[in-house]
Amino acid sequence: MPIDTACRFVTPSRFGEAAPTSFWRVAPAAAALEASAIREILKVTERPDVLSFAGGAPSPVAFPIEAVRAASDRILRDDPTGALQYGPSEGYLPLREQIAARLTAAGQPTTVANVLVTTGSQQALDLIGKALLAPGVTVLAANPTYVGALQVFALHGTRLAELDDDSAAERAAFAYVTPSFANPTGVSLAAAAQRRLVERLAASNVPLIEDDAYGDLWFDEAPPPGCRAIAPAQVLTLGSFSKVLAPGLRVGYVAGPPPIIALLARLKQGADLHTPSLNQRIVAALIANGTLDAELPRLRSFYKRQRDALLGALDRHLAALADWRVPAGGMFVWLRLKQGRDATALLAEALRRRVAFVPGAPFYFAAADPATLRLSFATVAGERIDEGITGLAAALADAPGA
Ligand SMILES: Cc1ncc(COP(=O)(O)O)c(C=O)c1O
Repeated sequence: MPIDTACRFVTPSRFGEAAPTSFWRVAPAAAALEASAIREILKVTERPDVLSFAGGAPSPVAFPIEAVRAASDRILRDDPTGALQYGPSEGYLPLREQIAARLTAAGQPTTVANVLVTTGSQQALDLIGKALLAPGVTVLAANPTYVGALQVFALHGTRLAELDDDSAAERAAFAYVTPSFANPTGVSLAAAAQRRLVERLAASNVPLIEDDAYGDLWFDEAPPPGCRAIAPAQVLTLGSFSKVLAPGLRVGYVAGPPPIIALLARLKQGADLHTPSLNQRIVAALIANGTLDAELPRLRSFYKRQRDALLGALDRHLAALADWRVPAGGMFVWLRLKQGRDATALLAEALRRRVAFVPGAPFYFAAADPATLRLSFATVAGERIDEGITGLAAALADAPGA
């Protein structure tokens, strides 16, 4: 695909590239699913000549490759049957114990009965959708919100309402938030805001899903313990090893009240029986031998350096053209172009200069601000970030509406 035509995928067709033939009568909910605009952009940005601020992926530089290799060798030597056999749907018991201990240490008292290991935290979202959503049911969320969550909600014919919409709260199935360093905005909920949110939802009997995919990637100060620490009966916390170990392992978890966890475990049986046995053992080994805890400070300072390189480049090249928020952790800077400039139009011009980002539009479920865009500072090499933002500034000078 020529790079400068990539933008036509920003508004995806209903069936993407594979329209069903007459043999296949697609379920209405699946037929209504739109191809992820972000995945379409990423197809282009994976080209090695593109400086991509678009991806949501962690930096491969940070993968603990040798530790994974050693753990995997040891597991296949010492416990080959366990690693290669089916396992319990709830997850590998030692890993569930470790997750419970880590959540407890972080301020959320947790036992094994509270924990379900999932195939990435994305699967937890999918299972929660199946457990709690139905057509016409309302979900409260921030606008904009993580597209992977929006996809799950859309599949169930859910109505979305903004988190602070009190009239919608009365009939909501749940509220969904990313408490720390949200994707896409980088915004976090301070302890007082968490408490206010939990109390407001409790008044309407609404539970909360807190998706904490980025909580471990803080730069200066650890985030507060999370809403589940405030109201354990009302909150499901989602966690992931994708951003701190490696996303290809597909190991995440959901923690919450045992009856809901048991329901999600039953639904998981129909989804994939269980998360891969070998991968769960690898994660458990990297926790047990201290690799994860040794990696975390290194990761935090790596991402902080990357963030600072991006903020420096933005100050030098885009100060007159855009505003942005400084994230205190995570992987994203959320930018707003000045003078009502359109980020989707800018993308075409940026791709011609071999620079990619994600326009804000796909993240909105209600009124969208077309001037917004997301920049990831995770994967562009630190020494090339300035070059990328220089390209973005040049694209902005040439894009329609300049
Ligand atoms: C907010 C948020 N939640 C969940 C996920 C899913 O992560 P995983 O399934 O790899 O744990 C992501 C991935 O980018 C994310 O940004």
